[in-house]
Amino acid sequence: MSITTLTGRTRLAGVVGWPVSHSRSPRLHNEWLRRYGIDGAYLPLPVAPGQLGTALRGLRAAGFAGVNVTIPHKQEAFALSDVLSPAARRCGAVNTLVFGPDGLLHGDNSDGQGFLDSLRAAGVDPAAGPALLLGAGGAARAIAASLQAEGVAVHLANRTRDRADALAASLTDGCNPVRVLDWASRDIALGEQSLLVNTTSLGMGDAALPCSLDHAAPGLVVTDIVYAPRVTPLLSLARAGGLVTVEGLGMLLHQARIGFAAWFGVDPAVDASLFDFVSADPVPGP
Ligand SMILES: NC(=O)c1ccc[n+]([C@@H]2O[C@H](COP(=O)([O-])OP(=O)(O)OC[C@H]3O[C@@H](n4cnc5c(N)ncnc54)[C@H](OP(=O)(O)O)[C@@H]3O)[C@@H](O)[C@H]2O)c1
Repeated sequence: MSITTLTGRTRLAGVVGWPVSHSRSPRLHNEWLRRYGIDGAYLPLPVAPGQLGTALRGLRAAGFAGVNVTIPHKQEAFALSDVLSPAARRCGAVNTLVFGPDGLLHGDNSDGQGFLDSLRAAGVDPAAGPALLLGAGGAARAIAASLQAEGVAVHLANRTRDRADALAASLTDGCNPVRVLDWASRDIALGEQSLLVNTTSLGMGDAALPCSLDHAAPGLVVTDIVYAPRVTPLLSLARAGGLVTVEGLGMLLHQARIGFAAWFGVDPAVDASLFDFVSADPVPGP
């Protein structure tokens, strides 16, 4: 962790979660603060369930510029926000809060934008064609909504079909509805997709995603939002088959830019050395 010189004018931000010790965000944001010579600090802020409102009032009173919000507080942060971005409204969850000079709490969700930006930074056009998302959790919601907003035909397959149906039904961008596929048809469906996104938690540790790429269309781009390990079994399989891949760490880094810019006034760069720096974090976990 870098050591910064703190003055009476230090800008403060952090990540609120429970637990929060596994978060890579302090390592990332404090590295950006160091690189840009900003008088600021970004802290891990363990806040127990049920204490978010109290904590936010205290952080505002202590002069914080804002915070990231992670598990289990994202839905409560949504409910507590005075002003919601369109992305936050689409997700029903907030991961970035800004204490505005207007006295209002501004809630945003940067996961979907971070995903799109990570693709573009890798030279991939997210709107090139249809996408298949595996999974129907919080990350799937953010990514599906952002792809839908780009006009992409989004398909969803999840182990628990009901969850995918509920997610698709809630993403009601009338002209561009999300289509649910059976979990069992996920491999065969790849013949008609331009983009495959693993948003399940499979790929961490020993649990690999059961997936074959034998039916993949030749130009399929394979992405995995699991980022520990950086190259998941799915990405290895795709690379072995000559497919273009985009790793999930990019989404983490790009979504973080949005909060950093709001709190510290600089849109920070994401470069190869930052990927290495953040992934060298010895602390395991998302
Ligand atoms: N790169 C990034 O910036 C970023 C951002 C957010 C999240 N993530 C990562 O994305 C992953 C998902 O996060 P989340 O918040 O969406 O989690 P979540 O809401 O808990 O959803 C988990 C998803 O994984 C599926 N799943 C879990 N175990 C499975 C199994 N054995 N077989 C098939 N499907 C299984 C679940 O299916 P069921 O509905 O059937 O249970 C569900 O769709 C996590 O690994 C997280 O670390 C990365």
